Amino acid sequence: MNFTILRFDEIDSTNTEALNQAKRGANEGLCVVARQQTAGRGRMGRVWISEKDAGLFFSIVLRPPLETRFLPLVTLMSGTAVHDTLETLYNIDCDIKWVNDVYVAGKKICGILAETTETTNGPAVVVGIGINLKSTNFPPEISATATSIEAETKQLPNVEALLQKLTFFLSEYCELFYGAGGAEKIREEWTKRSSYAFGKRVRVMLENETIHGTTRGIEANGALRVELDSGEIRTVHAGDVENLRSF
Ligand code: BTN
Repeated sequence: MNFTILRFDEIDSTNTEALNQAKRGANEGLCVVARQQTAGRGRMGRVWISEKDAGLFFSIVLRPPLETRFLPLVTLMSGTAVHDTLETLYNIDCDIKWVNDVYVAGKKICGILAETTETTNGPAVVVGIGINLKSTNFPPEISATATSIEAETKQLPNVEALLQKLTFFLSEYCELFYGAGGAEKIREEWTKRSSYAFGKRVRVMLENETIHGTTRGIEANGALRVELDSGEIRTVHAGDVENLRSF
């Protein structure tokens, strides 16, 4: 993959900028990086706090040559790439919470927001990745549930080295994903790295109900199978989930 990196000192949201670039025809591999975001977005309409140099705020334009039904796997693919980046560079033992949050010892270190858009040269997916570099500025409501590279390694990371390794793994996993049997391979790689894939007791808050059960792997399109205590198997799609907690 060829990368072009656009860098900003301050921006509203790197995802917004990458979506605009995609609409204007940007190729796969266009990346947007900012030191600070004034309107960082999380999933479910949440805010992603993005103070200057406290995180890596990164978005990439992808144009997966795949059937639409496999597009949700882009998020699993990205979570896998972040997982490998953090383990390789910093030796941090990471877990991937379905669908794509990266955790260290029960605390979130990275969030991923994938958004799709139609463009004149076909659909594009923008993957936004926020990796916490330091924890010093976490507001009290997230300090108990979040961690950072600095907190885990006792050292502030070199952002350029992080960016380089992240783009390397994204490129590797995109190649795997786009090749023959790629969707299945991504599913396998994700499953190997996530304690959520099998046998995890979870509570999932759906739009109209909350279900409790045990995870039983993921479907071909990345949906999570949950076995209810009644024995019924439910399939949970990323878009359906309001909250997934292990208990
Ligand atoms: C989440 O866990 O809710 C997803 C958070 C995604 C945050 C990243 S930071 C870079 C990119 N730009 C944004 O506005 N959001 C994503």
